[in-house]
Amino acid sequence: MSYPYQITSMDQYEMAYRVSVTNPEEYWASVAQHFSWRKKWEKVLEWNFKEPNVKWFQGAKLNITENCLDRHLGEKGDQPAIIWEPNDPSENSRILTYKKLHQRVCQFAQVLRNNGVKKGDRVCIYMGMIPELAIAVLATARIGAIHSVIFGGFSAQSIADRLEDAQATFIVTCDGAFRGGKDIPLKSVIDDALIGNKTIKRVIVYTRTRTAVSMIKGRDVWWEDEMLKVTEGPGNPVNVVAEVMDAEDPLFILYTSGSTGKPKGVVHSCAGYMIWTTYTFVNVFQYNPGDIHFCTADIGWITGHSYIVYGPLSAGATSLMFEGIPTWPDAGRFWDIVDKHKVNILYTAPTAIRSLMGFGLDPLKGKNLSSLKILGTVGEPINEEAWHWYDEHIGKKKCPIVDTWWQTETGGVLISNLAGVTPAKPSWATLPMPGVQPILVDENGREVTQKDEDGLLKGNLCIKAPWPSILRTTYGDHERCRKNYFATYENLYFTGDGALKDDNGFYRITGRVDDVLNVSGHRIGTAEVENALNMHAGVVESAVVGYPHNIKGQGIYAYVIFSGNKKDEELTRKDILSTVSRVIGPIAKPDKIQFVNGLPKTRSGKIMRRILRKIAEGETENLGDISTLLDPGVVEEIKNGKL
Ligand code: WTA
Repeated sequence: MSYPYQITSMDQYEMAYRVSVTNPEEYWASVAQHFSWRKKWEKVLEWNFKEPNVKWFQGAKLNITENCLDRHLGEKGDQPAIIWEPNDPSENSRILTYKKLHQRVCQFAQVLRNNGVKKGDRVCIYMGMIPELAIAVLATARIGAIHSVIFGGFSAQSIADRLEDAQATFIVTCDGAFRGGKDIPLKSVIDDALIGNKTIKRVIVYTRTRTAVSMIKGRDVWWEDEMLKVTEGPGNPVNVVAEVMDAEDPLFILYTSGSTGKPKGVVHSCAGYMIWTTYTFVNVFQYNPGDIHFCTADIGWITGHSYIVYGPLSAGATSLMFEGIPTWPDAGRFWDIVDKHKVNILYTAPTAIRSLMGFGLDPLKGKNLSSLKILGTVGEPINEEAWHWYDEHIGKKKCPIVDTWWQTETGGVLISNLAGVTPAKPSWATLPMPGVQPILVDENGREVTQKDEDGLLKGNLCIKAPWPSILRTTYGDHERCRKNYFATYENLYFTGDGALKDDNGFYRITGRVDDVLNVSGHRIGTAEVENALNMHAGVVESAVVGYPHNIKGQGIYAYVIFSGNKKDEELTRKDILSTVSRVIGPIAKPDKIQFVNGLPKTRSGKIMRRILRKIAEGETENLGDISTLLDPGVVEEIKNGKL
């Protein structure tokens, strides 16, 4: 046992679970005592889901970066904290030891302060996957400012909306980012996002790609120049004393899609998030000191926040960060990285596995992979075929696979097996973490007790009580948080997912039950895509649904009523796609656009998505009752025009 709160047997899991549910305050206090606090808490937990109001470790004072950096400097100062693998394999990788990372974070924290960033300010970070991204995140947290990282695939318009919503005053970005064969001009996207912006005072730009950028006098400064101003030398290491934060002070905002047209700024707070990401990191992956942990997510998403940066660093682990993509320069890139850095834990998304499966076994030739001990997946349901391929060809049947279910809102893993400790079951996330009390309910919020023909319980997945890293609010709009997550069913947190439960108490997540799609593990709201489509001058109306996609999990199918001239249908499609790219970003581009003359609507004008979904899925016969439609004739037309 490497950590005092590490669970290493099924019996221990059962015991921990029991205590965590019957006496959560005692359980989480016993975990929390192993962290470093400026002041201990007065009360472990206070909560109600009505408002909602959740407070963990009230009265405690801390800074998460002291837990992620300072407390490891003694014993682990020279151990790698971050190993960075560049996009281009011919470029050198970089290693930042805990000492080095601490130094850089302090230096950049001072840069932020010199540029006027204060506790509570919102700092937007829009960078590629380079160590400076992690440094910027940690430096922001060090001085008590709130980071809002935006994934590099979002457009200027999306960034502008997020800056506005968060009332952000600072931006940290790069000239550009390398991703596979592409060089993405991040600073120029930021420039577009800033047209008309009134809140941003300063943009700090790191040089990565040497792309030409326009630096605006008085607003834009270079990262490198600013770092030089913070002198550092022998006998004069920069040590920026961390801002002392309340346990419940916000740590970051991360925007995510819901069923409305506008993304929500999910807010996580300092102490609870720290405890949960560290605890789940250690237990789910059964991390042992010295292990190399490779999470392939981007820090622009919650998975990167929790399992590249905060969880691993707080646990004093070595976290590998990769700038590129799995298929460039070839489909063996992940496996080369595993061999080069002797990776022990590989955590990736089912969509990446399916895409690599598609290249066959050739890219695996000559790869050793013997360093691997544990594999993980996240982001979407994993199909059995992909699970077995991962198990056989990557884990060589000797690596437990953890199927981790969680969400941006949950901060860390809620349902998963613990690697090699609790049983795995292909395509099942299995058991809840200690402290997590799932419940399956029907549409009326009643607990499901009747098994289906397969002997399984089936319902909407809710959670009965708070765990330490539950979202605290949605930025600037607490009522939205209440409505979205706590109002569907009384006194329950509603996940938006459907699930099955078997006789062992194992859970299988079946996917979203709301209007949110999961495309390549990215959450995209259908309403958001529709808004973007409708912005195109010729689009009268649109309806977006998901359909099963071999690699992406779900694809985006758009039905569009187009009034303009569409003599050249292909060109019109491209125009519409470029509109979506502009409004949201390339990740939200529909895979299919079908032009239609009408949409199936009820007499009250509601679009019957159920029918559209079935047609997109290839179903032609059992479309259900269409007699309530205003014009049942449109269904025939839509069926005939299916792409
Ligand atoms: C889905 C990602 C099945 C689910 C961490 C959830 C999963 C949404 C799994 C959250 C899994 C995540 N099995 N489905 N192991 N993990 N999901 O916020 O629908 O980007 O609600 O967080 O992804 O996506 P998000």
